[in-house]
Amino acid sequence: MKTKSSKAPGRLAGRVAWISGATSGIGEAAAELFAQEGAQVAVVGRRLELGRKIAARINRRTPGAALALACDVSSEAEVAQSIASTVKAFGRLDILVNNAGMVEIGDLHTYSEAQWDRVMGVNLKSMFFAFKHGFPLLRAARRGYVVNVGSISSFVGQARTPVYTTTKHAILGLTRSIALDYAAHGIRCNCVCPGITETPMLWEHLNVRPDPQAALDARLQRVPMGVSLSPLDVAKSILYFSCEDSAGVTGTSLTIDCGYLTAAEWQCTGPTAFQKNSPTP
Ligand SMILES: NC(=O)c1ccc[n+]([C@@H]2O[C@H](COP(=O)([O-])OP(=O)(O)OC[C@H]3O[C@@H](n4cnc5c(N)ncnc54)[C@H](O)[C@@H]3O)[C@@H](O)[C@H]2O)c1
Repeated sequence: MKTKSSKAPGRLAGRVAWISGATSGIGEAAAELFAQEGAQVAVVGRRLELGRKIAARINRRTPGAALALACDVSSEAEVAQSIASTVKAFGRLDILVNNAGMVEIGDLHTYSEAQWDRVMGVNLKSMFFAFKHGFPLLRAARRGYVVNVGSISSFVGQARTPVYTTTKHAILGLTRSIALDYAAHGIRCNCVCPGITETPMLWEHLNVRPDPQAALDARLQRVPMGVSLSPLDVAKSILYFSCEDSAGVTGTSLTIDCGYLTAAEWQCTGPTAFQKNSPTP
């Protein structure tokens, strides 16, 4: 186990983070960014081999350290075990990033109870499990940071994702409740709400369309900046809530959506300066 990070420079030097869903997309980008900032990071996900490859890459490239841990976040026992393993390896816990998530597309009347429970378990109940088992450690650290990953679906409905949308709305309530009830223990809890972000989750949905790129371009027509987000764009906001750059901020949410939610209706009429190689509008 690499231990160099306690001496590494950076905004998260000496901090230990548990990041769920860190084997791809936003979680993977956050794990690498945190280690870049000197943190020791538990790369938590269901795919252990992939997690190990990511942890090895982070250990090679960054001043921080990473450890892969297998965990299905919808299982309380597995979440508890992964938090215990994090502390066993790194000695403490300062930051919980509840990022793992899934979508089931369908009409509500066609859902089975098992489908409903699965999405609720992965997207929402997992956050309760992580907080419950992380709390004594965050309290012991005297400063604790909890970052929950919501979505633009935390604020508006999106077609044919009723349970996903329900969980993402509920995450705002959970974030405020934790912020309120645990401020006295030195814990701040905030939520990041990404818009269209180019991760495996997004492409999984676009790839069922006859022309995935055309489907993405059509969605981006509704986005004032005219572009999608990278996982790193979102990870930077997660970092903001995980350190003293956000001192004094708790119980809030930050929308990172290239302007998507600023308008009830929007249609791009031409290129924007945010698009690569676009002419000046
Ligand atoms: N990509 C977007 O456009 C977008 C937009 C808004 C919100 N989000 C949110 O961002 C978060 C990360 O998603 P992403 O876009 O990086 O997609 P992703 O598919 O790359 O990441 C989701 C991760 O969650 C993991 N996961 C799913 N079920 C799990 C389980 N039971 N136990 C442990 N891990 C599990 C997956 O393996 C994956 O690594 C999610 O909460 C998602 O809802 C994404």
